[in-house]
Amino acid sequence: MNDTKSLITAAELNEAVLKLGVLLSEQYKGKNPLIVGVLKGSFIFISDLVRAMDIDCEIDFMAASSYGARSNSSGNLQIIKDLDTNIRGRHVIVVEDIIDSGVTLSRLLAILQKREPQSLYLATLLDKPARRQANVDVDYACFTVPDEFLVGYGLDYNEKYRNLPDISILAEHVYSE
Ligand code: IMP
Ligand code: MG
Repeated sequence: MNDTKSLITAAELNEAVLKLGVLLSEQYKGKNPLIVGVLKGSFIFISDLVRAMDIDCEIDFMAASSYGARSNSSGNLQIIKDLDTNIRGRHVIVVEDIIDSGVTLSRLLAILQKREPQSLYLATLLDKPARRQANVDVDYACFTVPDEFLVGYGLDYNEKYRNLPDISILAEHVYSE
């Protein structure tokens, strides 16, 4: 029953997301940035974030899965859903739910960089630096989090818990069973 414990409340999330929205609105005014959400975990974060931005912007989504997570080569990233938008010459803001090992994202960013955007910015809701394996340049993290398995506000365990309003710690017995 009590499988989750709140770590970051909905009110704290709201405040942090509004702050990032204001910052991005100042930074990208007149630049019509393309906001790229990395599915599925970022869907709630991105929908709150874009409503905190009062400038023109466009939104697109990508989904990818990494295999061979222990290697650092950029070869084995499978793009499950690619962008609909040509990003060449565009200001791109990649929005992630959480950066853990960083493997997925470092590969994804390498692929996007090859498409020659005018700029590429990485904003993540959560940064979990304890388990980093790949070098990722995080431009903005709303929260740095401890090495726990987190769920809620879009983040899942086996596709569950995405709808929790808080970011919560999942009890170890749930995923070690
Ligand atoms: P990375 O390649 O290890 O950085 O994997 C990042 C992806 O793994 C994230 O975008 C999440 O989808 C997932 N992930 C990593 N840590 C957690 C967690 O604590 N809870 C839920 N999903 C996580
Ligand atoms: Mg993700």
